[in-house]
Amino acid sequence: MDMDKLRQHAAKAGQSHVLQFWDELSEVQRSHLLEEIKNLDFLELNGFFHKAMDAFSASSSQEKVDARMEAVPQEVLGSATRDQQHLQQWEAQGFHQIADGKVAVLLLAGGQGTRLGVSYPKGMYDVGLPSHKSLFQIQAERILKLQNLAKERHGNDCVIPWYIMTSGRTMESTHDFFKKHQYFGLKEENLILFQQGMLPAMSFEGKVLMEEKGKLSMAPDGNGGLYRALGAHGVLKDMEKRGIEYIHVYCVDNILVKVADPVFVGFCVTKEADCGAKVVEKMNPTEPVGVVCRVDGVYQVVEYSEITLATAQKRSTDGRLMYNAGNIANHFFTRRFLQQVVEVHEPQLQHHVAVKKIPHVDTQGVLIHPDKPNGIKMEKFVFDIFQFAKKFVVFEVLREEEFSPLKNADSQNGKDNPSTARHALLSLHHCWVLNAGGHFVDENGTRIPAIPLMQDAGDVPIQCEISPLVSYSGEVSSETRPRNKATL
Ligand code: UD1
Repeated sequence: MDMDKLRQHAAKAGQSHVLQFWDELSEVQRSHLLEEIKNLDFLELNGFFHKAMDAFSASSSQEKVDARMEAVPQEVLGSATRDQQHLQQWEAQGFHQIADGKVAVLLLAGGQGTRLGVSYPKGMYDVGLPSHKSLFQIQAERILKLQNLAKERHGNDCVIPWYIMTSGRTMESTHDFFKKHQYFGLKEENLILFQQGMLPAMSFEGKVLMEEKGKLSMAPDGNGGLYRALGAHGVLKDMEKRGIEYIHVYCVDNILVKVADPVFVGFCVTKEADCGAKVVEKMNPTEPVGVVCRVDGVYQVVEYSEITLATAQKRSTDGRLMYNAGNIANHFFTRRFLQQVVEVHEPQLQHHVAVKKIPHVDTQGVLIHPDKPNGIKMEKFVFDIFQFAKKFVVFEVLREEEFSPLKNADSQNGKDNPSTARHALLSLHHCWVLNAGGHFVDENGTRIPAIPLMQDAGDVPIQCEISPLVSYSGEVSSETRPRNKATL
């Protein structure tokens, strides 16, 4: 596109100001700005803005979503604790699909880790485990182990391809990190990185905000940007070519995530679901997790920010929270369902509006750091497609086994930070050893009680970390089974 066309393109959409400082820019800045603008369809962007703002104002003026919510009905619910008698069968089904090469995992890793406060992708973070493994390494090793477990059961080599969605902010460093670490033992061709889209932040008047004179204020388009990216980068075609039928989609920040969990996959396949969500029981009304529920009869996740405290505090007759299906961002989809989403439903998905304070250059070219919200970011959410499922199921698992997200830096508050993630993993692995018949001794050889006496609140759990290459979820192989009187 030549300059004149570009100017017309911007002017037609009322966005001429993005070229306002063109004459002051260096060659490098110009080519960078051109690249950003070429990738944008301003008219489409204006359409996104108006639709998102209309929905946003309607939802603010309407009655709160609370009145239209219904808890997940029992018939779609499976449970890792209450359905003990089915777990083995579901697990066997999951392993069968994995061994047949029909299962892939898809990691959502395009977020910016703003709350954690790091400038690199969250998956590279080291929470301070004895091994100093990053989240990416832990996940890679779980995939490797699962491939081996499936081989032990079914006798054939199999591959669980790992699709990783990155963004303009995380692509290069994610790629370099995996390369530097030789893909943590996985085959390079089975690790497929692709990039989600970015959208500019907008003022309340619908003008694109500029981060610098030659740079738009761009941010990833939300983890629901997945569906556009799947189509745009031929990811579903790649899955089809590899014979993938089932996909486990998950977020990068949960240190306990059971990637491609055979029990969850087997549960969803057995129930013939096209879409499923893993949840943990929400224990505390103010816990910042979304809840899986129905709104006007349609499945969705209602984020913690969207309901009133009174609704979040409502309890059922058994004393548990009424809306207690806490979303841990672990989803199951069939490839066919995703295909349909990409081909038919994606354009119908609305962007959610996040009102923010967005630094920007004003018409004089001065950088402003606003002290009150001045604009919006637009994002789609990964769970926005639940509404299109023909058969939706929910699987409840134990928090201490499967959910400890890394959201905040240690200094910010005591929740969901590197220390809590590290402790959750160490405590779980401690239990694995005890459940396998092992025990621990202190430096004097004295046996440590199964539930150690804590001296004070600052005490840390026993430093027991088990490599995912040894055990995926606490199972014991013949080589690692503790012998009589053995200490670990
Ligand atoms: C998310 C869930 C929330 C759930 C919580 C559990 C969504 C929209 N919300 O909330 O319901 O209770 O996790 O921990 O899923 N990401 C991208 N691209 C983006 C933005 C994010 O790939 O543009 C990825 C992040 O890298 C991360 C995941 O999506 O892996 C979740 O993003 P985050 O912003 O941390 O979501 P939460 O608000 O914590």
